[in-house]
Amino acid sequence: MIQVENLMKRYAGGEAVRGITFSVEKGEVVGFLGPNGAGKSTTMRMLTGYLPPTDGRIEVAGAKLPKESLLVRQRIGYMPENVPLYPEMRVEEFLEYRGRLKRVSRGEITHRVGLVLDQCGLTDVRGKIIGSLSKGFRQRVGLADALVHNPMLLILDEPTAGLDPHQIRSFRELIKELGKDRTILLSTHILSEVEMVCRRAIIINKGKIEASDTLANLEKRVQAGALQIEVKADPAVAKEKLTKIAEVSLVTELNRAGDWVSYEVTAAPGKDIRGEVDGLIKREQWPLREFRREKARLEDVFVELTQD
Ligand SMILES: Nc1ncnc2c1ncn2[C@@H]1O[C@H](COP(=O)(O)OP(=O)(O)OP(=O)(O)O)[C@@H](O)[C@H]1O
Ligand SMILES: [Mg+2]
Repeated sequence: MIQVENLMKRYAGGEAVRGITFSVEKGEVVGFLGPNGAGKSTTMRMLTGYLPPTDGRIEVAGAKLPKESLLVRQRIGYMPENVPLYPEMRVEEFLEYRGRLKRVSRGEITHRVGLVLDQCGLTDVRGKIIGSLSKGFRQRVGLADALVHNPMLLILDEPTAGLDPHQIRSFRELIKELGKDRTILLSTHILSEVEMVCRRAIIINKGKIEASDTLANLEKRVQAGALQIEVKADPAVAKEKLTKIAEVSLVTELNRAGDWVSYEVTAAPGKDIRGEVDGLIKREQWPLREFRREKARLEDVFVELTQD
């Protein structure tokens, strides 16, 4: 659905995108992540035919860019970072106008507009002047605009920026729903959002791709979370024996409660020490009342991959 090869963008001030290559298959919902200034919006504007690349090859929804940019704009739904709206138009009127521009037939337009008004929670404000809407509602109008011609591919640049927590939640549900039969590429700073709606993430930093993988694999890259255990044992002996396990890098005592002592046991990167720790506890016959592993989070991966 999206194929990008060696894509580059140079602005007067320097290179914003430095030769990136990636693809998005039909039906995927992919998160596009990166810190401020990483090049997300620049990349998305090139993918949607609104910004010519300095160099590289782009194919989107079966059309080549920049040559067939009109075709691409008709086939995809794009919600830019700053949604351009006509402030003097009414919501419904604007969506009809946009739908017609994107070649929705006269016979279908009323149905399509009604549907996206409903999907985006805009039915109650359909008659309002866009300029009088709050930021969150204008954001929804931008999404409805991206959806009105029922595109197979959605490219959404920080679609939840400016939404309140209720709106963010219902927005996520909408993305999940839309992702069932569409391809979606969305950028965001909210990592939990990616964890909830995307199966794969592309992480970009300073114009280069740092990682592109499923969330499960990305999470494996960082230290496989520490293990927390609580046992009834002589604290000094337990600490020494835990430390002796070959793949354990650090044992920290967390707390003592009566005869119980708890530890955080950290593994060497990428190692799973659950089996060894469990074996030790059984051999020593230590009574055990807690054994859990903190899951590595996408946030940890993001910080590790994008720090200097
Ligand atoms: N029109 C422009 N002219 C010159 N430089 C630009 C222009 N647009 C973006 N840049 C620069 O290109 C780099 C990438 O910007 P871009 O907007 O793509 O980042 P981003 O990843 O979308 O960041 P954010 O998370 O803040 O939205 C930045 O250094 C930015 O200053
Ligand atoms: Mg941006």
